[in-house]
Amino acid sequence: MRGKFIVIEGIDGCGKTTQIDEISRWLPTSGLMKKNSKLIKTREPGGSLLGIKLRNLILDNNKNNKPSSLTELLLYSADRAEHVSKIISPALENQDWVISDRFADSTLAYQGFGRNINLEIIKNIESIVCQGEQPDLTIFLEISPEESLLRRKNFIPDRIESEGLNFLQKVNKGFHIIAKEKNWKVISASQSIKNISDEIKETLLKNFS
Ligand code: TMP
Repeated sequence: MRGKFIVIEGIDGCGKTTQIDEISRWLPTSGLMKKNSKLIKTREPGGSLLGIKLRNLILDNNKNNKPSSLTELLLYSADRAEHVSKIISPALENQDWVISDRFADSTLAYQGFGRNINLEIIKNIESIVCQGEQPDLTIFLEISPEESLLRRKNFIPDRIESEGLNFLQKVNKGFHIIAKEKNWKVISASQSIKNISDEIKETLLKNFS
């Protein structure tokens, strides 16, 4: 028996972090997890100690440090390899549950659909990097690219968030294609915070009871 691996995906500003915080408070009391198992709340990029350093490098807004698309892909992949090896796999082996803010499909959406890197190349790298780990459940929090920009208008954007509407539209389209292909649970993130978390809880109960 291994733990469960849950991933929340969506474009920037969809409210993943708020929902993950809420679900992380609820899950240990939900009756779904075994008595002694823990819940590991994590994210990409930056879920491991080395990953925190990689996150700073990847999202650095300084134009002089802008990586090429290929370098960007490999940096996200390095972050994920470390995350899987040091955090995700050991937790699942230990029968703990993992909830991650983004995983490999963010790379398909952002670097594949957003940056136009060949999807087969990304999938080949993913097959090495993920070391067989795949989410038991992926939930896609859906908002429009326009709403994403509106929600973030008072915040200083990181390097990827600075890419603008056209890039975000390509990423969003990618997420929708992947969601359909992989049969994800899609939840409208334009609802109230409570309605969204109720829908997530219902989905978790349905999938893991
Ligand atoms: P976050 O703000 O959701 O933590 O993610 C940081 C940014 O990194 C976000 O704009 C999405 C982007 N990203 C990619 O471009 N590729 C990836 O593989 C991942 C995990 C994130």
